[in-house]
Amino acid sequence: MNVAGSTEEEKAARLLLDAVVWAPSVHNTQPWWFGTHGSTVTVHADTDRRLEIADPDGREMLISCGAALYTLRLAVRHLGRHPHVQLSSDPDRPGLIADVAIGRPGQPTGEEERMYDQIRRRRTHRGGFRPEGLPAGLLESLKAQAHDEAVMLRVVADPRARIALAALTEVGEQTHRQNPAYLAEMARWAPRPGSDRADGVHADTYPRDPEHTDPYFAERDFARGQGWGLLGDDQQDATGVVALLTTAADGRGDWLRAGQALQRILLRAADNDVSAAFHTQALEVPELREFIRRRHCDDAYPQMIVRLGFADSEIPGVRRSPADLSRPEP
Ligand SMILES: Cc1cc2nc3c(=O)[nH]c(=O)nc-3n(C[C@H](O)[C@H](O)[C@H](O)COP(=O)(O)O)c2cc1C
Repeated sequence: MNVAGSTEEEKAARLLLDAVVWAPSVHNTQPWWFGTHGSTVTVHADTDRRLEIADPDGREMLISCGAALYTLRLAVRHLGRHPHVQLSSDPDRPGLIADVAIGRPGQPTGEEERMYDQIRRRRTHRGGFRPEGLPAGLLESLKAQAHDEAVMLRVVADPRARIALAALTEVGEQTHRQNPAYLAEMARWAPRPGSDRADGVHADTYPRDPEHTDPYFAERDFARGQGWGLLGDDQQDATGVVALLTTAADGRGDWLRAGQALQRILLRAADNDVSAAFHTQALEVPELREFIRRRHCDDAYPQMIVRLGFADSEIPGVRRSPADLSRPEP
């Protein structure tokens, strides 16, 4: 592809951002904006969209930006180029994350193309799964995706550990529900049904009544007692595979790595029609996160708790438009 002329460059940048905005983010905050300079795209964290109460250190914000960064890398591969990523660590510009330039030519692999095709299709599932197990070899492949980003995907196979993590998730959720500041923050990001907002968690993306799995991983209370959410029809009641994403350390770079690994896993799973549910409440309560780190992660740092399985539902998705999110980079 020729990206030399400015219109070609702009076209390439637009194509990239059309994909990137579909990355997952905590509460669909979409805490990012993008600078463009020729065909280089700069990823910035939008710190006004950080969850002040649930995410004071910006850990989940940077996991979300990491997911966007991997999506950008994959979109560059789709263009038949290699991404050239330069991570930024300018203390004067803490929101600056990375420059991603369109590098040397190179055909995308079949796997990369299939994962690219999942970027818009992938959705967060909230509820139980169908009872069947995951396709043979998929978990190994997901672990390898995480490993490539220096992140570990730990499958929680011991039934007692699954029960313990479910119980810790419940404690995290109930701790949040006792905190008025948390509830106010949730209200900002969970709009009422029929809202035309292009961000936040909408009522057509979660069930009205939780689908009770055994063990049960508490859902976030997006409806806050208002009775919002979808009425379920046929209940799917398997918990699915429970897994933790962990990193060896716990700094900004680790959070970005965790986000990139997360999106790789989600897209690779989606290519097999496998969906993911997230339960990160306990990791937002420092004492619970520390307990999970010591008891369930061999002292590695837990970044995400996920369940994986087959779901029947088609979930809609909303995003802000790429045009609203891009600004010329000086
Ligand atoms: C760091 C992070 C934490 C998340 N935590 C939760 C969670 O605890 N519960 C939940 O239902 N979804 C969680 N999500 C999923 C987001 O709500 C979801 O990505 C967002 O609403 C966009 O929807 P989509 O993934 O279907 O495109 C999390 C996502 C990220 C990136």
